[in-house]
Amino acid sequence: MYGSDGAGDNAERTAFRKAEKKYKLYYEEHSKSSKKKKQPQQVDLSEVLDPKSISESYNQKGELPPGIVAVNCGFNRPVFRLEDRPGFYFIPGALTVEEQCQWIRASLRKFPQPPNRTNHNAIYGPIRNLFVAAQEGKVLVEEEGSDNCLDSESSASVSNGDAHRWKFYEEDIARSRAKSCKSVSASVLLRKLRWSTLGLQFDWSKRNYDVSLPYNKIPDALCQLAKRMAEPAMPIGEEFRPEAAIVNYFGLGDTLGGHLDDMEADWSKPIVSMSLGCKAIFLLGGKSRQDEPLAMFLRSGDVVLMAGEARECFHGVPRVFTDEENAEVTPLESQFLHIDDHCYLEYIRTSRININIRQVF
Ligand code: OGA
Ligand code: MN
Repeated sequence: MYGSDGAGDNAERTAFRKAEKKYKLYYEEHSKSSKKKKQPQQVDLSEVLDPKSISESYNQKGELPPGIVAVNCGFNRPVFRLEDRPGFYFIPGALTVEEQCQWIRASLRKFPQPPNRTNHNAIYGPIRNLFVAAQEGKVLVEEEGSDNCLDSESSASVSNGDAHRWKFYEEDIARSRAKSCKSVSASVLLRKLRWSTLGLQFDWSKRNYDVSLPYNKIPDALCQLAKRMAEPAMPIGEEFRPEAAIVNYFGLGDTLGGHLDDMEADWSKPIVSMSLGCKAIFLLGGKSRQDEPLAMFLRSGDVVLMAGEARECFHGVPRVFTDEENAEVTPLESQFLHIDDHCYLEYIRTSRININIRQVF
């Protein structure tokens, strides 16, 4: 599902694939002699639905573009749905800037902690304190044997369960070992963090929940938030039960290929999807990849709900805008002013985080 290339048979020919290609980041060809920075190709964004401007014109003039309906649900912000996509809802600016910062911090510092799994587990085993290690300039080094390179000074240790052990070391110590041991800097690993899973652990290789894996419940504050956000898409009188969440991390050029989330038992329950950081383009297709998808911007603080029939619709993220002009992260910049927050700001200026909360059973 990660990286949109090769998504399904005949992928090149489907309407969904065409839209992914249209919005994906490509660079201008330029002559080898040119020393100029490579320039992103211009993309026609005129057909991308803009939740922010929809919300603004609704608030100011009570006007809505054709096909968009405001939902009456006693929520403290306008909630919209699409006339021709039952079960799909969007709530522009659903999270306050403070809430966005809270969940950015948690997504980087807490959510990738064991027993939660990340894309790094397969190679390095569980990694503890990756974010702090990246801040401290540490380097993850593979131990040659179990006894000969152990260092009690190391603040974090990992193991993937077999003979291979990886530990964080100060950069200079790591450098002295680099000749004989494999190593990778924590900041590189942080940049390569693509997902972490909260609550019930999702097994990406089997594309299923693995209930045999140890897990912690979804943090209470995130549960409460998801319940509140899910309300517009819930049957009256029923409460959403968050049991699992997938956190996606996107950097420059990263995409999420068209897919369905079909591993949860009850599709009448919504998936609550929160966007943090850089602006992205989200594609909402139909039940077939042949259906023309709708493109919409998602900004930091926007929430999307997919329930009912919308659960059967292909969707994905072909583009994240990590450049200053288009990322639209200025509100976060003024919130992350404190020196201690610099590391979060530095990350989120060129990244997007998506927290995707699900009721599994
Ligand atoms: C997902 C997903 C959408 C997004 O994780 O299943 O569809 O906005 N994410 O990142
Ligand atoms: Mn999805």
